[in-house]
Amino acid sequence: MSVSLIVGTQWGDEGKGKIVDLLSKDANIVARYQGGANAGHTVIYNGKKIILHLIPTGILNPHTTCIIGNGVVLDPFALLQETETLEKHNVQVSGRLFISNKAHLILPYHKIIEKYSEECSTQSIGTTGRGIGPSYVDKYARCGIRVGEILNFDEFVIRLRKNFEEKVRFIEKIFNKTIDIENTIDEYIEAIKQIKNFTFDTCYFLNQKIKEGKKILIEGAQGTLLDIDHGTYPFVTSSNPTAGGACTGLGVPPNKIDKVIGVSKAYATRVGNGPFPTELKNQFGQQLQSKGYEFGSTTGRPRRCGWLDLVALRYSVMINGIEEIALTKIDVLSDFDEINVCTKYELNGEQTELFPTDLLTLEKVKPIYTSLKGWKKSLAGLKLKKELPKEVLAYINFLEEYISCKVSMLSTGPAREDTIFF
Ligand code: IMP
Repeated sequence: MSVSLIVGTQWGDEGKGKIVDLLSKDANIVARYQGGANAGHTVIYNGKKIILHLIPTGILNPHTTCIIGNGVVLDPFALLQETETLEKHNVQVSGRLFISNKAHLILPYHKIIEKYSEECSTQSIGTTGRGIGPSYVDKYARCGIRVGEILNFDEFVIRLRKNFEEKVRFIEKIFNKTIDIENTIDEYIEAIKQIKNFTFDTCYFLNQKIKEGKKILIEGAQGTLLDIDHGTYPFVTSSNPTAGGACTGLGVPPNKIDKVIGVSKAYATRVGNGPFPTELKNQFGQQLQSKGYEFGSTTGRPRRCGWLDLVALRYSVMINGIEEIALTKIDVLSDFDEINVCTKYELNGEQTELFPTDLLTLEKVKPIYTSLKGWKKSLAGLKLKKELPKEVLAYINFLEEYISCKVSMLSTGPAREDTIFF
């Protein structure tokens, strides 16, 4: 299996970081294709927790080369900060990380525009505040700046200064605020100088490596329900975390992707605003939040929690062509007597198994649950499928049948060894 793609099936935070970290031990290359420093991939590395926002999780395996693809929006400050953190943990980044010359830059004014837009909006998205949306806006409005432009450094600096001036005038006019970012330009230029040697056309590189039969792992950030096209619009991120985004975001053709693995939590969480049909605003939701330590790894915000939504999961399997599921955080359900899974929605007095992605409909649906028996036992230390309590197996069977897709990995805790391969 030379090219495998890992996608989130929910609203992000499914535990993709741990799964990519595990699978990347066999990979030559790990590549990210969308999003930016809004992601928060948490991995336990040498017993310590590391959160990666921008750099692919594969960096933690010393033999892998990592690629930040053209579909990513890159914040040089975030990149340097993360590089520094990794080097403190003795992870070498230099010479192992390369950035597509076609990736767009996040500029300091993107964060300012995002902050003011959110403040002024009557329908705030609850973004991570990393400037992601405004940077993609500039990309599609064809006025963004791409990483490769730094290779002509003098022209780049002139363009950057001009761009800053124009945008500052624009922001001041639109939001009626005064902005002083003169120092920020100099800091930005200094930061960008340091990534100059890491950038080239990664599409040629990746396609060459595919031809050579190298093992490539493509790492999605966020999740299907946050996808700009297929998610719960407008409460979504501004990129395509779904499988199609991997092709455009890396320049890898669809027929070269051999396998799509979906990552799903055994329950559901969402950070930020927007509809969430199975959300639990009661003690069960609180129990999931505290047992699962459900706080955003980028912003620290508490995550909203609820039961697993199989209507949504089946939709994700369809949109991404998922062939197997890595099911994470099953241990968080160990204290429940009964575990609910949503198998249908009620909408205007009728039942449906289809996931509506228009806001007004999604806000109206009511989940219909099937209740499954809890196992009420710790799963710590279990290594084999046959050692699992029968109620866990019944839970997994039910899920597999509903979504017509196999569970191939079960995560029973945050560490690499807390994983059962089926
Ligand atoms: P943005 O991506 O910062 O524009 O935020 C848009 C929405 O996506 C907000 O609801 C964020 O909380 C959510 N979001 C962005 N990145 C992640 C992530 O990595 N995990 C979970 N939610 C995310």
